[in-house]
Amino acid sequence: MSTAEHAEVNRRDFLYIATGAVGAVGAALAAWPFISQMNPDASVLALATIEVDLSPIAEGQAVTLKWQGNPVFVRHRTAPEIEAAKSVKLEDLKDPISRNANLKDGSPATDENRVVGGKEAYLVQMGVCTHLGCVPIGDEGEFAVVEGNNKVGGWFCPCHGSMYDTAGRIRKGPAPENLHIPKYAYLSDTKIRIG
Ligand code: FES
Repeated sequence: MSTAEHAEVNRRDFLYIATGAVGAVGAALAAWPFISQMNPDASVLALATIEVDLSPIAEGQAVTLKWQGNPVFVRHRTAPEIEAAKSVKLEDLKDPISRNANLKDGSPATDENRVVGGKEAYLVQMGVCTHLGCVPIGDEGEFAVVEGNNKVGGWFCPCHGSMYDTAGRIRKGPAPENLHIPKYAYLSDTKIRIG
């Protein structure tokens, strides 16, 4: 891999740091593109819950975990990402429903309802485009925050051009729904259990 490619992977921060419950994957640390080559056995794929230590995820960084065979994005948002998400009016959302499994069905897709326990810095969502199921790319798309030459937050699905904002809400393109938020709970200030 060239240095440029390394930089690209690092910039996107596609790290894999599933920990906890699950001794089987606890020590794994690899870039997302290599996960598929790790061939986790069926017992890993079927894990009902995983515990994730959020403390190594720096502000502005995201990690991609694998849970029940699907990618889960865990992002530590910056203040500008949160501000950008909060400034969006509900009527401007393509999908006004939170799609948050931790809330009542039909809750509105406010930024507050896209996180759990008021911890707005951490966005935890399925990395599965709601159009046809591709894995969107982070720090991309028209709804990322622009900082200097970089885009921060937001997701772009290259399959058919869907774009999600800094709260993972669909804003443009064919995807019908916001990125889904799985059931998860805080075990401590910096630890969550997904599932
Ligand atoms: Fe994402 Fe089609 S699968 S836009």
